Amino acid sequence: MEKITVKLAPSYPIYIGKDLLSSNYLIDLCREKASQTVIIADQNVSDLYGRSLLAHLKQNRIKAHLLSFKGSEKNKTRKTKEQLEDAIFELGCGRDTCIVALGGGVTTDIAGFVASTYCRGVPVIYLPTSLLAMVDASIGGKTGVDTPYGKNLIGTFYQPQAVFIDIATLQTLPDKEFKNGLVELIKHAIICDKKLFSFLSANVAKIRGLDPSSLIKAILISCEIKKSIVERDEKDFGVRQILNFGHTIGHALECVSNYRLSHGKAVAFGIIAESYMALKLGILPQDDLIKIKGIFENYHINVGKLDKSYDKKAIKKALLLDKKNINQTPRFILIKDVGSVYVGAAGYTSVVPNRIIDRGINFIETSA
Ligand code: GLY
Repeated sequence: MEKITVKLAPSYPIYIGKDLLSSNYLIDLCREKASQTVIIADQNVSDLYGRSLLAHLKQNRIKAHLLSFKGSEKNKTRKTKEQLEDAIFELGCGRDTCIVALGGGVTTDIAGFVASTYCRGVPVIYLPTSLLAMVDASIGGKTGVDTPYGKNLIGTFYQPQAVFIDIATLQTLPDKEFKNGLVELIKHAIICDKKLFSFLSANVAKIRGLDPSSLIKAILISCEIKKSIVERDEKDFGVRQILNFGHTIGHALECVSNYRLSHGKAVAFGIIAESYMALKLGILPQDDLIKIKGIFENYHINVGKLDKSYDKKAIKKALLLDKKNINQTPRFILIKDVGSVYVGAAGYTSVVPNRIIDRGINFIETSA
């Protein structure tokens, strides 16, 4: 088992290994944090792992309950949060309660948000079961729900007490979801770590085949990258924004597709479009763009062009809703090469001329 510590307030461990859902560390932490535990689990995951986790906690004399909900992005709403809170009140739980989030990013986001406001804040432990939640959503304390006005617009920064990454749960993760996580992992490599990029490029078959040691290595390095960024900028005013690479165009595509396009695919298109923009601005060498396109192809992500039905005007309009905007002007994270981001006069985000944005979008429509 690997362990890294996120040094924030509170500091917390991330454990990475196999069969951690039944570990004694989890039992000890639940016992230490509160007199009862409420597991909030995604419905699918609840059947796969929730019931056995509940039994395991009870066998170890922990007063525990299991609540499940439909963990889809559509259901990541204020209403679902309220329903979960009411269900916890119905169980008779007060401040002396520890919440355990079991599922993907939707589950960690919403359960973390519930924990951050329930009785003005109760401890939360994350057990991410999707690759995306393992390398991204469960680290750094972002919690929240979506609104009709956009994704994650209501939420808090609230750090968990611990994160247990059990790679055994990836065995039951659908391929599409695995690819969503891979995109974030590849993004971490592109913005920060040339060596991780080489490792991912050289081990496609092992990673896709869920080889434990390759997966643990990739997840560990990815978590270390995210940890070091959030430690420097917990509240997302500076360097943390580099995690948004590919997401300016990516979120706009998700929005225009009415969320039919998966987050991973949308961000992969976004990474390619925004890399092309950096190339056209003379920041990124051509070879690096070729490598970036190549890694997605090798992992069978986003091969092909963006569907013709995506209207460029609608994409541009959706860009105006991006959270990084200042004065309604979109801002982009640009990369200098594979492994590092460009820092311009205005810091980590850059304003890009309209015609270059158009060329970025054209590129994924015609030749990505
Ligand atoms: N997922 C981006 C962040 O945590 O800042």
